Amino acid sequence: MILLVDFGSQTAHLIGRRIRELGIDVRIVHPEEAMPSIFKRKPQGIILSGGPSSVYEEGAPTIDPKIFSSQIPILGICYGLQLTAHLLGGKVVSGRKEYGPAELILKSEIRNPKSEIAKDLLKSFVVWMSHGDEVVSVPKGFITLGSTEHVPFAFVGDLKRKIFGVQFHPEVEHTEHGVTILKNFIIECGLQQKTHAINVKGIEQEIKKRVGDACVVGAVSGGVDSTVAGILTGRAVGNRFFPVYVENGLMREGTRERVEKIFAKTHIKPIVVNVAGEMVKRLKDVTDPEKKRKIIGNFYIEVFEQQMQRLIKRGKKVKFLLQGTIYSDVIESKGTKHASKIKSHHNVGGLPKNMKLELLEPLRTFYKDEVRAIGKSLGLPDEFIWKQPFPGPGYAIRIRGEVTKNRLEKERQADKIVLEELEKADILKSVFISFPVLTNAYSTAVKGDGRSFSEVVALRIIESKDVMTSTWARLPYEVLQKISSRIVNEVPDVSRVVYDITTKPPATMEWE
Ligand code: XMP
Repeated sequence: MILLVDFGSQTAHLIGRRIRELGIDVRIVHPEEAMPSIFKRKPQGIILSGGPSSVYEEGAPTIDPKIFSSQIPILGICYGLQLTAHLLGGKVVSGRKEYGPAELILKSEIRNPKSEIAKDLLKSFVVWMSHGDEVVSVPKGFITLGSTEHVPFAFVGDLKRKIFGVQFHPEVEHTEHGVTILKNFIIECGLQQKTHAINVKGIEQEIKKRVGDACVVGAVSGGVDSTVAGILTGRAVGNRFFPVYVENGLMREGTRERVEKIFAKTHIKPIVVNVAGEMVKRLKDVTDPEKKRKIIGNFYIEVFEQQMQRLIKRGKKVKFLLQGTIYSDVIESKGTKHASKIKSHHNVGGLPKNMKLELLEPLRTFYKDEVRAIGKSLGLPDEFIWKQPFPGPGYAIRIRGEVTKNRLEKERQADKIVLEELEKADILKSVFISFPVLTNAYSTAVKGDGRSFSEVVALRIIESKDVMTSTWARLPYEVLQKISSRIVNEVPDVSRVVYDITTKPPATMEWE
């Protein structure tokens, strides 16, 4: 078993998952639980995660330095490396901030037969960074295994004590050979890779056990996550599951029809509630993205409460609210003790105290690609499984500034054009998510012979698998040109189209 000490990393659970995928058991603990867990569980290896703190900061999370004399192999990642250096007599400074790709060059002398840590790695490869501080001097006994242009101690280790550190993130999909480094660490721990498969039946059984003889109402949005969660629940509790689709006017065209079609196969008919008109009223004059999310989230709760009351009147014993929350939603909404809050995804805020429902979130520990694998094993068609994710607050967070009926129509038209052109060019399937943003910035255009001062639309078209990192899609210029021409010509009051070429990190996928 590997013990993973979580210092508040956005990707701590992604590290855990990568280890799980290698077939190795992993237990995630807070720093203060690390020593007792070592005594109790006797792990074969320890990973110290990244985190948003700085080692010199007051109250920064730390661990008992005795951990380094435990003779258990240790891998420090980002903050985990900085903390290792700091506690063992090295030096950390607030360095050049770096977010996104960098090239790691391995030192040629590391092909040390006594160490497995650099096995099967190329001489140079791309790694992803996300840090403010950096190690500028390593503790005694450590050697440099690899460096990037700006970070001399990007990959270091004390090969004798089997204590290793990486400044970059081997757990994210865009770090090449990241999994190889984790696999090599596992070998250093004396463990062996095994095959890993998701136990779908097990998830259903857990739902069944928890729900007992009660009923579940479920928020279904037509997206992969809520549909997979819904189908699992339908299979577990049958007609004691009541899926509810809220038509809020912020969704893509055809969403309701798709929800009905998918659930028709399970012989469960979703309850459709139309609140589109009221939603725009509630969003009037609201420009702050967090406020938008709160208003939409609260309205959802209200709608669900009404539906619950109706079901109770019909004699149903409603006890649970199903949500398709997945792990990336949880961590980006401050899921772990030392992590920073990025956005309050509306579906992770918990339920109001006076609402008597319990949350049922069977996919809470899974990542997007795992949810897709579960969907496939449930027999969902490929075109549905690979459908783009769409945020709960929908167009509201892709329209910067006030959300009005007109602007919703403008966004919907532009969105349709982007989807159509990507589909025509046979690119849609290969991108993770694509959408236009109404930026609320205005610029000049000449249309006909007149001046038009109208809105700038930004295109966000990105590739990602695990949602935690992404790059912008390198689209053919002709496709970009076609999208741009169609948007400025067909959508009213648009002056220009710009392409967002920012990676995540640092930029989140959505603009708000
Ligand atoms: P970000 O913008 O956080 O997006 O990089 C990561 C994924 O989350 C989706 N997203 C949301 N989903 N409620 C949701 O249900 C939200 O408030 C929200 N904000 C972002 C985003 O579309 C992407 O798939």
